[in-house]
Order: sequence, then structure tokens, then C-alpha cells
Amino acid sequence: MNESRGLHLRTIRWKNPKFLLVPLFLAMVILISFSYHSSIKSYNIIIEPSTETTTMQPTSPNSTANLPKPTVPLYPYHIEEASRCKGEVPLLMLLIPSVPQDVVIRDTVRKTWANESLIPGISIKRVFLLGIPSNNETQVAVEQESSVFHDIVQQDFMDTYHNLTLKTLMGLEWVSRFCPQAKYVMKIDTDMFFNPWFLVRNILEPDKPTKVGFITGQVIIGASPFRDPNNKWYIPVSLYPENQYPVYCSGTGYVFSNDLSSRIYNVGVEIPIFPFEDVFVGMCVKKLGMEFSRQGGYYFSQYRLQYNGCHFTKMVTVHQYSSEDLVKLWPDFLKAMETCT
Ligand SMILES: *[C@@H]1O[C@H](CO)[C@@H](O)[C@H](O)[C@H]1NC(C)=O
Ligand SMILES: *[C@@H]1O[C@H](CO)[C@@H](O)[C@H](O)[C@H]1NC(C)=O
Ligand SMILES: *[C@@H]1O[C@H](CO)[C@@H](O)[C@H](O)[C@H]1NC(C)=O
Ligand SMILES: *[C@@H]1O[C@H](CO)[C@@H](O)[C@H](O)[C@H]1NC(C)=O
Repeated sequence: MNESRGLHLRTIRWKNPKFLLVPLFLAMVILISFSYHSSIKSYNIIIEPSTETTTMQPTSPNSTANLPKPTVPLYPYHIEEASRCKGEVPLLMLLIPSVPQDVVIRDTVRKTWANESLIPGISIKRVFLLGIPSNNETQVAVEQESSVFHDIVQQDFMDTYHNLTLKTLMGLEWVSRFCPQAKYVMKIDTDMFFNPWFLVRNILEPDKPTKVGFITGQVIIGASPFRDPNNKWYIPVSLYPENQYPVYCSGTGYVFSNDLSSRIYNVGVEIPIFPFEDVFVGMCVKKLGMEFSRQGGYYFSQYRLQYNGCHFTKMVTVHQYSSEDLVKLWPDFLKAMETCT
């Protein structure tokens, strides 16, 4: 992923909204042709941003249909953190999958975008989602860290890359059980830049009625499974016979109204587990007869865009920001939040 492409996209997205069509088309062609070779999490994608700015209408005809059904965990909780959500009702609960040994990364995330006191008057809370490490010493360290921060939730399944879908399901079950009062939930990876201010102000809009049946992020349409067994994202026909995935949001960061947590979970435990958690959530959303809102289209990027303070004040997520990157850019970003218009 080269950075000039990121710059190019940024320029067309932000400086010349009136002349978007031709460069946008070109950018899409570039994105499609490059995606196969990209080293990041893409499964052969077509991205279709949209200029739609309206919020999604509730898909349920009446509120009784939205009453949460009880959920049952797939694995026992090892660390439950049952009172994490007590007190002020969170506008947003962050579900952050993390591997047990990533102590430094969790620490950076706590001090940067997952700091719970960033926005005065807005309650945002976080939990890290962990499985069980193979190494016993690591587990001892996790329990120690948990006793300090009380922001780790852990179920009794092996923490492996191919169990990421179990982590998302755990997060959905946890929030359904222990944090049903939160208004919105966001699943976000640790290798991300995240701007909660823009999300809150422009998408969650806390002064307006809480959305229902709402889910958005970088929406991916028309992605196909890789059929080459040597590919990292190989999916055999036996596992997924169709040629196209359902519409889904890039797993790097997606946000949804909390009424969906138990609904997605309860559908998710009924269908076979699919190893890519984002595609899996797409399958659940489809099964629920719901649609992804395109509202997030421009503001969530599963690609790395080169850091630019003022530009990033108008993004929600940008992929591929390491812990070191975040530590370096965060003070500048906080300044940009005050000075950029
Ligand atoms: C609400 O929806 C449910 C399920 O679709 C239906 O059974 C029920 O009669 C509806 N209630 C009202 C008040 O419309
Ligand atoms: C979180 O943000 C608040 C407000 O900006 C700041 O005072 C506090 O030091 C930050 N906490 C951490 C752990 O960085
Ligand atoms: C892990 O360490 C703990 C504490 O030292 C010990 O009680 C437990 O049996 C160990 N478990 C394994 C699987 O080695
Ligand atoms: C996922 O976790 C389960 C439960 O610990 C384990 O049996 C299974 O082997 C893991 N699957 C993968 C693909 O790692």
C-alpha cells in the first residue's frame, strides 16, 4: 500500500467534493486492481462509498420486536468484568480484540484513542477481548493486568487468529449481558487510528434519538472468497460455496446501535462459524434482513492513509497505525483537534 495513493484519495475526498466523480471512479479502479496484492486485510474487495448523509431508518416496525432476547455464552467467561459498565450510561462501548501478549499495545491504546475521559460529558468505555494464551505465564500476566485496569474480558477458548470470530461473538454476548444500556457499540482493532470526536459528533449524534438497527463502517460490496490454497485468506468451496460474500463492513472498525448486539449474536450462534469475523457479521446482518448504512463510507478507512492532523480530524478510523505511530502522532492530533476547522 503506497502512501501517495492515500494522499491522492485524501485530496479528492476533502478538497474537491464537487469534482469527485471522475477521480473517485479512478480511485475505485485502482483500489480494486491493487487489492489482490495488498498486504492488509482485504479479501478481494470493491468499495462503494456513498454520499448518503441521512441516517438509517429503523428496520423494525415496532419497538416490541426490538426487545433483547437473552444470550448464552459459547464458552465460559474466565474474566467477566461484570460491573465494567455500571454507573453513567455509556454512549459508546468499545470492543477491542487483542492478543494476550500485546501488553504494550493495550497500554498505548488506553492512553490514546481508548482513553475514557477524552470527551467531556460523553461516556465512552472500553473492553479488550481476549482468549486464553497457550503460555501459562502470559495468562498470569493477563490476570495481573486485569486486576489493575479492569478492562479485560476473557472467555475460555484458545486465542488464535482463526478464532477471531469467537472473540467478536464474545464481545456481542458480553455487551448484551453486562452492558445492554450502552447506546452504541464499536468493534475496533488495535492497529488503528481512531477519532472518537468525529464519530460522536457526526455519526452517533447524541442529541438526536438513538438509532435502531444501525450499523456502519467501511462497507464492502461484492468481495469474493480467495480460492488459491496458498493465499492467507483462502476459503475452500466446501466452507463457502458461493462466489461472493454478502455485504459487510471492514472488521478494522465498525459501529452499531446496541439493539443489534443480541440480535447479531443470537443469529450468529445459529449459523456455522466463518473465520473472518467481518464477513461473518455480514452474514448475520443479511440473515436479520438488515442493511449496512453507507454513512460511514468516507470516514472509515481499512487502508493506511498518510497521517495529516487536519485531515484526520475528519476521519473516524484509519488502518495500520502501530503503537509507536500512535504515541508519536497523538499529541499532534490533539492539537489539530483544537486548531483545524
Ligand atoms: C410488533 O411486531 C411483532 C412482531 O413483528 C408483532 O407480533 C406485534 O403484533 C407488533 N405489535 C404492534 C403493537 O404492532
Ligand atoms: C485521558 O485524557 C484525559 C483528558 O484529556 C487526560 O487528562 C488523562 O491524562 C488521559 N489519561 C491517560 C491514561 O492518558
Ligand atoms: C499455570 O500456573 C499456575 C500458577 O503457577 C498453576 O497453578 C497451573 O497449574 C499452571 N497451569 C498449567 C496449564 O501449566
Ligand atoms: C478455537 O478455540 C477452541 C476452544 O479453545 C479450540 O478447540 C479450537 O482449536 C480453536 N480453533 C482454532 C482454529 O484455533
